[in-house]
Amino acid sequence: MFNFAYYNPTRIHFGKDTINEINSLVPSDARVMVLFGGSSAKKTGTLDEVNQALGNRFVVEFGGIEPNPTYETLMQAVEQVRELKIDFLLAVGGGSVIDGTKFVAAAAEFEGEPWDILTSWGGKVTKAMPFGTVLTLPATGSEMNCASVVTRKSLKAKLPFRNELVYPQFSILDPTKTFTLPERQLANGVVDAFVHITEQYLTYPVNAAVQDRFAEGLLQILIELGPKALAQPQDYDIRANLMWVATMALNGTIGTGVPHDWATHMIGHELTALYDIDHARTLAIVLPSLLRCTKTAKHEKLLQFADRVWHIQAGTEDERIEAAIANTQAFFEAMGIGTKLADYNLGKDDVEAVLKQLEDHGMVALGEHENIDLAMSRDILTLAI
Ligand code: NZQ
Ligand code: ZN
Repeated sequence: MFNFAYYNPTRIHFGKDTINEINSLVPSDARVMVLFGGSSAKKTGTLDEVNQALGNRFVVEFGGIEPNPTYETLMQAVEQVRELKIDFLLAVGGGSVIDGTKFVAAAAEFEGEPWDILTSWGGKVTKAMPFGTVLTLPATGSEMNCASVVTRKSLKAKLPFRNELVYPQFSILDPTKTFTLPERQLANGVVDAFVHITEQYLTYPVNAAVQDRFAEGLLQILIELGPKALAQPQDYDIRANLMWVATMALNGTIGTGVPHDWATHMIGHELTALYDIDHARTLAIVLPSLLRCTKTAKHEKLLQFADRVWHIQAGTEDERIEAAIANTQAFFEAMGIGTKLADYNLGKDDVEAVLKQLEDHGMVALGEHENIDLAMSRDILTLAI
């Protein structure tokens, strides 16, 4: 196992009716901005509940944060934060609203051009406002991590940043708030969490037994409960377990002390930036082909994945690995998510456009061995056509 430091300051309140806890979590004299997305938080009544819990505090609402939140919209929030002397942010929504809030928290305190927060991968952030979250879509883990992904529309750039200063102070995880999710978003969440786990697990062995067994358990829960969540949309226990799996998938726990491979995400981000494909769907396109193209480097962990996650014991090593990748792809398809570029009406020319984006953004040495260069990305995307 590699050396590691582990730190996670986010307080979690999990379960039914936990929105009420906001009253004790937000300072009583805070000037609060509540940030949300398009219309779901209003329609579902979650926003009303949040406002009620905030009581007599000064509250201003900022709505309209898009899926794949944009720098352009978020900078309007930053302006209002400064104008109205807001000192606490509260995100109500999915990963996009939470990521957007992280950016606002950092940008409002940033001296200079806030886009540098993204181009420096978060390295230039030295201060950030405090904030909490009310999660309505289990998927990204953003509710308990210090990462954020922001799109600058004018540049067609979708870039991530990380900084310990943007951990949420608290996150409210009430599974009942996810009952209103459309199937498409529910499926997206399951696949996104699945890929977060594989990107911290399917690399090379470093004898990290805790992280491996933990990752394998989380993957098995997703394989079991994903389809059940679609079939039994009002089942609380299924929602609760999915919510906690998605949080654990990317809150640092399984990623400590092991190599990471975020290539699927980085290639996927370019597909979203160019074609506006849902985040999780881009991952479902890239991951199976990426695993096939890197199966020599990932040989041992892929065999372990086949054995422990998919219980595949028959056949040659190559056959077992291919069966595990095929099962993974079939699982995504069973969740209603296409795994080929053609499913999104994309082809050969689009592969070249994605490669150009990767080059422009310096994504030319990806993966746990930093050997996924543009040529290998071309192979991966071509295999995904
Ligand atoms: O905008 P509204 O009307 O609120 O509707 C949203 C949105 O259209 C809807 N929704 C959310 N909760 C709902 C609901 N509809 C009904 N009932 C509810 N309870 O769902 C749609 C998608 O929301 P979004 O927040 O975009 O989805 P998700 O949570 O999948 O977030 C995706 C974003 O997170 C980033 C992605 O790149 C993408 O921009 N990621 C962030 C990560 C992180 N911070 O660590 C890691 C991830 O890999 C990911 O990259
Ligand atoms: Zn993701």
